[in-house]
Formats: sequence, structure tokens, C-alpha cells
Amino acid sequence: MDRPRILLTRALPEEGIERLHEECELDQWDHDHPMPRGELMERIASADALICLLSDRIDEELLRRGARLRAIGVYAVGYDNVDVNAATARGIPVFNTPGVLTDATADMAFALLLSLARRIVEGDRMVREGRFHSWGPKLLLGKDLRGSTLGVVGAGSIGGAVLRRGKAFGMDLVYHSRTRKDALESELGARYAGLDELLSVSDVVSLNVPLTSETHHLMGAREFGLMKDDALLVNTARGPVVDEVELYEALASGRIGGAALDVYEREPDVYAPLLKLDNVVLAPHLGSATVHTRTKMARMVCDAVLDHLSGGRPENCVNPSVLVSKGEGK
Ligand code: DGY
Repeated sequence: MDRPRILLTRALPEEGIERLHEECELDQWDHDHPMPRGELMERIASADALICLLSDRIDEELLRRGARLRAIGVYAVGYDNVDVNAATARGIPVFNTPGVLTDATADMAFALLLSLARRIVEGDRMVREGRFHSWGPKLLLGKDLRGSTLGVVGAGSIGGAVLRRGKAFGMDLVYHSRTRKDALESELGARYAGLDELLSVSDVVSLNVPLTSETHHLMGAREFGLMKDDALLVNTARGPVVDEVELYEALASGRIGGAALDVYEREPDVYAPLLKLDNVVLAPHLGSATVHTRTKMARMVCDAVLDHLSGGRPENCVNPSVLVSKGEGK
């Protein structure tokens, strides 16, 4: 078989993409900004497979142009940028990178939480701006995590890893998810609660759900109204899970205590009024951003696409019915 032509929409860690260089014709967008839509529309026409990022919109219109496409790899665990139904209708499997970024993302949730609870970013600004004049008994007092309640919304693998870290910090654990997780309850002593109850009892709410039509604006005015007035919100999931305008209102009015965000509703844009608040910590979508994790993600997505093209059956397929219907899935 001829070497397959793979369209890669961004430069990934080299160590993770060695197989692409060895086994295929690589058409790579080698810039530090997303491939413009027009370019993507043009180049997809000659691609046998696509490896894309969460910032690329893979929709019906694009798939129509990709007549040769036999696989889509998403360099992320979340794949809300891909119209999976449209891919499935065309018999195209979609692969993602579950598992390898669980710990890095849960670490990031805690890094954000600690920065917010212990006011590290405010302190950093104070030091740099020459406003640190003396140790002070009342200087930038924060919140203790030990003994406070951590509520995790979405208890998949990342949510579970956030709960584990919460236990290590001595927090009481509550979680909400579509199904109860016996293992989390017996292993960690986490208590299941409905979303409203979780919001009203938690001192920290961590969002760890995928973005779907059900989770879009899961957190709006009503939900912020249920939270404690000093509660902290951490979002390392997807921006549109939170209504950013309502979040701003809740923060500015003192309805909740603070927020730490890694993701944004209209990424990379941030609702500008949030930038003016001190009780907000903002990161540029760094959840999986460690050298080791990003390399593993690259390797995983490349392996899945290449193995599929050569007749294998990678497990990290989000629409495995495509493989089954082609007789490859059993
Ligand atoms: C994901 O994997 O979904 C992250 O948001 C990017 O690492």
C-alpha cells in the first residue's frame, strides 16, 4: 500500500510523532496558531487521515471535502470539536487520548485551586509591583483546604483523580455524575449527591465533565445562586460548561468567593470583565501541558491512526460502532 497522507494541524512534540515521519506522507501545519479554516478545507481533500486539535472545527462541511478520509485523531481526551455523528455517518472512526493526561489535568486543577485559595497570583503581582513591604498577620489571608468540602462534578477518570488529590489534602468529598461510582465511594469515602445539593454543600466545586448539549452552561445564575458565598469554582473541563457572563456577575457581586479557570467559553477570548477581578485565577488551557504528557498524547493519537490504517483495532475509538459495522470490531 502507498504511504498514507496524514494532515496534522499543528506541530506536536517530535518524540511523539516519529512514526508519522517513518510511515506516511506528512502534511503538517507548522505554525504556533491554528490552521486557518480555508487552509484546512483545502488540505483535507487530499488526506487519508487527519490529526487535529481541539481548536479545529471538524464538522459536516469539512468532512464533505475529505472524501479520502479514513480516520480522525484528536490530540485531546475531549472531542467536542468533532461532529462525531457526521464522522460515524461516513464510517470514519474518531480516536482521542484518554488516560494519559488524567494526572496532569488533575494536578492542574489542584494547582489552580491552591493558587486561588492561597492567593498566590495576587501575591506574585504584589511582589513584582514592589508593594510587598513587610510580613503581615493579615496579609493576603486565604482558605484552608483541610476540613473543607470538595465537590467534583463529573466523576470520570479526571474527576476521580481530582477526588483522590482532595483526599490527600484532607478534604471531605462529594461527587455528582450520571452514574454512581461504587469504587470512588468505597476507596475514597466520596459521597454521591445531586448537583444542587453538591453546589450548596461544597467549599470548592471542580468541573470535570465533557462538553455536551447537556453540560453546556451547566453553571449559570441559578447554580451560582446555590453555592456558598465564599465557595471557589475550578474549571479545567471546557469553557462553555460555564456561562461566563453569569460567572462574572456571581464573582463581582460576592455571590461566590472566587474562580480558577483553565478554559473559556469563547477560547482563546476571555470575557473581558473577568480580567479585572482579583478573585479570579486564569490559565491559558494548560491542563495537559507537561512535556511527558504531551509526548504521550502525541504517541497515542499517532499510534491509533496509523494502526487503524494498517488494519489494527485501536481501543481509543470514540465511535467504535463504525469498526463493528465494518466487521472490524468483533
Ligand atoms: C483535552 O485533552 O481535552 C484537553 O483539554 C487538552 O489537553
